Amino acid sequence: MRIVITGGAGFIGGHLAKRWIREDHEIFIIDCLHDYYTPERKLQHLKDIKKAGDFTFHQINLLEKKATEELLEKIKPDAVVHLAALPGVAYSISHPLEYVDYDIKATINILEASGKANVKKFIFASSSSVYGNKGMQGRVSEEMANSEVISPYAASKYSAESFCHVYKHLYHMEIAILRFFTVYGPWGRPDMAIGTFIRKLMNGETLPIFDMNNARDYTYIDDIIDGIDKTLHYHGDQTIFNLGHGHPVSMDELLRELAKHFPHLVTDVLERRVGDVYSTWSDLSKSKALLGYTPKISFQEGIARTVEWAKQYERY
Ligand SMILES: NC(=O)c1ccc[n+]([C@@H]2O[C@H](COP(=O)([O-])OP(=O)(O)OC[C@H]3O[C@@H](n4cnc5c(N)ncnc54)[C@H](O)[C@@H]3O)[C@@H](O)[C@H]2O)c1
Repeated sequence: MRIVITGGAGFIGGHLAKRWIREDHEIFIIDCLHDYYTPERKLQHLKDIKKAGDFTFHQINLLEKKATEELLEKIKPDAVVHLAALPGVAYSISHPLEYVDYDIKATINILEASGKANVKKFIFASSSSVYGNKGMQGRVSEEMANSEVISPYAASKYSAESFCHVYKHLYHMEIAILRFFTVYGPWGRPDMAIGTFIRKLMNGETLPIFDMNNARDYTYIDDIIDGIDKTLHYHGDQTIFNLGHGHPVSMDELLRELAKHFPHLVTDVLERRVGDVYSTWSDLSKSKALLGYTPKISFQEGIARTVEWAKQYERY
């Protein structure tokens, strides 16, 4: 298939591109190399993707509506996977309007460009943050999101989801909205807890902990990629799916797992950050039943693989 991956120089997009290039899909990456974290890291990731085989790279900002539409018209892809966004909860608290641009307006532009270019399938990367603090009470299932969110990032994802429904209606595209639960692994985002912690541990630095009462349903990147691949082949009438691991890991458990690799780990417990939810916990019944999604990588195995990668490559 001819597939556009927006945000393909980023963490999740880069892994997805590698998998599909190896499976002989024709891949077109659109990425503006935003400096939310270093463009050097994204350029290195693009080089790594190249090892999997050929692909086409377009450095375009999706906020450029005309350029986005012309490009999609030229490529005429069968499918678009829209991963490009400003991620991160903390930054969204201090820069809310950037999220209106990068997470909402950019999504509308690529949805409209896809509709006009007769794209058959559009997959949108949403987030577990749309459940707000509901993960504290137990597993969250797809129908439980109700706009009660606690960060501008989550509000922009929830809004972008609504626009996906609008463009499904306007252009009769197949649309899938995937709610990812804290993804980690090689090439993981350097602003996220696991990436930050491993980098600091390799440098012998103290770990800043924003409150010990946090738990995250950490999901290894290969499982997420498998879930996106399964979604590409799903043609039923459901739209929204959770992609998680199904087991929240407490801060304490995370630190114990890291200590197996870095026994001299030292922490500094700081004040809780506003906007951070306490716990995330995915109910995977729907994605298991309809997509055949089954996460396979245990947290222990995932951390071991991530640490091994970081020791060889983490420089950017
Ligand atoms: N990593 C996670 O744990 C996680 C969890 C939930 C949801 N998500 C979502 O998954 C998607 C991918 O996340 P990631 O962790 O790979 O992030 P990432 O920052 O590594 O990748 C996003 C990429 O999109 C690009 N980009 C941003 N705005 C753009 C624009 N307007 N035009 C073109 N390119 C643009 C960036 O340069 C970047 O390379 C995002 O939508 C994110 O919100 C991620």
